[in-house]
Amino acid sequence: MSAEKPKRIGILTAGGDCPGLNAAIRGVGKTAIVEYGMEIIGFTAGYSGLIEKEYVELKESSLSGILTLGGTILGTSREKPYKFVKEGDNEKPELIKQNYQELGLDALVCIGGNGTMKTADRLREEGLNVVGIPKTIDNDVWGTDVTFGFDSALMIATEAIDRLHTTANSHQRVMIIEVMGHHAGWIALYAGMAGGGDIILLPELEYNIRSVCKKIEDRYESKKPYSIVVVAEGVDHPKNVSAASYLAEAIQTYTGIETRETVLGYVQRGGSPSPMDRILATRYGAYAAQCIAEGNFGTMVAMRNNELTTVPLSEISDRLRLVEKNHPLILKARKMGVSFGDEYL
Ligand code: F6P
Repeated sequence: MSAEKPKRIGILTAGGDCPGLNAAIRGVGKTAIVEYGMEIIGFTAGYSGLIEKEYVELKESSLSGILTLGGTILGTSREKPYKFVKEGDNEKPELIKQNYQELGLDALVCIGGNGTMKTADRLREEGLNVVGIPKTIDNDVWGTDVTFGFDSALMIATEAIDRLHTTANSHQRVMIIEVMGHHAGWIALYAGMAGGGDIILLPELEYNIRSVCKKIEDRYESKKPYSIVVVAEGVDHPKNVSAASYLAEAIQTYTGIETRETVLGYVQRGGSPSPMDRILATRYGAYAAQCIAEGNFGTMVAMRNNELTTVPLSEISDRLRLVEKNHPLILKARKMGVSFGDEYL
C-alpha cells in the first residue's frame, strides 16, 4: 500500500441487493474520478469478484445513466471469504490480498449490510485500506441511523398496505401482510404506521396470539369489521410456514373471522430507488470517496443525527441495530390504540 495519495480504488456490492446501489456506485465513482483524479475498478458479484479477480474498469461515462436503476450494475453475492471450509483454510483471504496488490489498489469500497461490514473489517485487519457503505432494506446496520434501500422498501410496503385496506374493507376480512427485515422490525414498524396498520408485530416485541385475536375481536365489536395486521418476517413462528400463514390460520381459527395473508417478499428489494434513497446513497458514495482521499480507512460512512460521519468498522462487527422496545413511534402508536400483540400478556 502506498503512503502517497490514493490513485486507484476498487468497489464492490455484496449481500442482498436493494434500491440505491447504483446511485452509491455512481457517487463513489464520479467523486473519485472528477474530484480526486483516481481510477476505479468494480468487482463483479461481491467478494467473489475480488477472490476470482473478476472486475470491470469504471469510467465516468460508464457511471452515467445508472442513478435511477434498481439492482446493481456490478452484481452481488453472499460470498463470505472468511467462512472457512476447514480450520486453517485461508485460501480466499490470501487470494484477495494478492489480487488487491496485483491490481495496484490503494483502497477498496465495500457496499453492503452487516455481513459485508464484518468481512470488510477482517480485510482491514489483513492490512487493506477499506471503507464501508451501509445498505439494506432492513435498516439494521449498527452505527448508522439509516441505510439506503430502507426508504424505497418502505414506500413499496406502505403502498401494499394501502391496497389491502380497500379490499379488506369490501370483504370485512382480516388481512395479514408479511414484510421483510430479517431479525429487525424497522420495515414493519414504519410501513405499519405509514399504512395505518391496526396490529403491528415486530421480532423485538414478544407477541401473544390471544392478544392479537382479542384486538381483532374488540375492533369487530366496535363496528370495525376489518383489520390489517402487519407482521415482520422475523417474528417467532413455526419454521415450516411463513409468519403470515401461521397467523392467518390461527386468527381465523380463534376468531372465526375470514382471514387472508400476503407475503410481500422480494418486490421490496426491486425497482428504482426512492428520491430519498438516491440522495442518501449519493451522499454516502461521495463521502466514501472523500474518506479515501483523506486516508480515513477502516471505517464505515454513516448518518448520525442527520450528519455524515464515519464509524470504525471494528465497532460494527457482529452488532445489529434493532428497534428499541420503547422507540418513540411505538409509544405514540400505543397511545393511538395500535396493538403490538403484547397488550394482554
Ligand atoms: O437483508 C435483506 C433481506 O432482503 C432480508 O430482509 C431477507 O430476510 C433476506 O435479505 C433474504 O435474503 P436472500 O436474498 O438470501 O433470500
